[in-house]
Amino acid sequence: MDINQFLSDNALNMKPSPIRELLSMINKPGMISFAGGFPNPLSFPIPEIKQIMNEVLDEQGTQALQYGGTDGNRSLREEIAKRYIKQGMDIDADNIIITTASQQAIDLTARVFVNPGDTVVVGLPSYLGALQAFNSVRANIVGAEKDEELEAVVRAMCMSGKKPKFIYAIPDFQNPSGLTMTVEQRKYMVHIARKYDLLIVEDSPYREIRFEGEHQPLIATMAPERTIVLGTFSKTFVPGFRLGWVIAPKEIVYRYNLAKQSSDLCSPIFDQCVAAKYLEKGYFEKNLEKTIELYRHKRDFMLECLEKYMPENVKWTKPEGGLFLFVQLPEGYDTTELFKMAIDQNVAFVIGEAFFCDGSGKNTMRLNFSFMDDANIDEGIKRLATTIRRLFESR
Ligand SMILES: Cc1ncc(COP(=O)(O)O)c(C=O)c1O
Repeated sequence: MDINQFLSDNALNMKPSPIRELLSMINKPGMISFAGGFPNPLSFPIPEIKQIMNEVLDEQGTQALQYGGTDGNRSLREEIAKRYIKQGMDIDADNIIITTASQQAIDLTARVFVNPGDTVVVGLPSYLGALQAFNSVRANIVGAEKDEELEAVVRAMCMSGKKPKFIYAIPDFQNPSGLTMTVEQRKYMVHIARKYDLLIVEDSPYREIRFEGEHQPLIATMAPERTIVLGTFSKTFVPGFRLGWVIAPKEIVYRYNLAKQSSDLCSPIFDQCVAAKYLEKGYFEKNLEKTIELYRHKRDFMLECLEKYMPENVKWTKPEGGLFLFVQLPEGYDTTELFKMAIDQNVAFVIGEAFFCDGSGKNTMRLNFSFMDDANIDEGIKRLATTIRRLFESR
């Protein structure tokens, strides 16, 4: 039987990520992997979670194990609202809907706003999971690398009758580049969004993991009428709870609610009750401080190793927070070729090209610094540097 005859156009358009096959090669023993976006398990507050889980079962077990509203646990939304109000947002719990982590928030964003062929603007590079979600609704994804390009890209799309629906931005410690937008860049994005009447989707999972420097204002505080904030506990608490949120004007939250109803009715209620208590008790802040310390050390250590081992003409970003840094080889080199050589040496990364919607970025790669222990970071970067030298010598 030909299954394809039954598939929807959307399903037919869902392509496996070009790197998935390559990534399947990294699950072999002895592999040092800088590929995944995994938080470090040392950051998981297991004793606190155990204690709170018992409290939740004792105090509100029947409610916590029942179905819940699509909008999510009210106490949790209130706790989340407080954190954003402190950052200058004028919102309350009804501006928030809890999602099954931020990947669902991105997926709902695609379903709520994008018709097949609609344009969305993303960064070059941009988060692969967002590109996949936009692709799955057959969006026309266009990339803008630099600020100057943003207006040119938006204007060109408007002139060809394909006005973008939104700009998707990851302003803080971007995945994959590790870079953070300055206030001026944020203002400029808001200026373009207002001038051409577009929405902005501000996806910021790493915002609170800042090692140094000043916090930059949320774009949503500059354009609350047209910005949708996506947040998650995956990097600051635990990814296994699968809890995230959308913050938006109420009429937009209502649309997310309708889309979510047909998707999963509600996000895990028990997890939401535990997360709400975890925030109420002030555990979140304490654990976040420890996580920041841990990742700051890991970033510093990986940067030292890169300095120590990498050949001269290799460049990399120096992120002020988050989980990733981005490495660039000289033009003309292809990290897909490097990946195969690196796998033979038992070291893995994500090929940068996967993050570029226009197929560029062939000479780039993403390294995660949060997951591996120090000995493996040292050994892994050493192996990677040796492999890069070998690639250079093969020319
Ligand atoms: C920019 C960005 N958005 C969303 C996600 C999805 O994370 P989660 O679904 O675990 O919240 C990630 C994960 O790495 C990410 O980097």
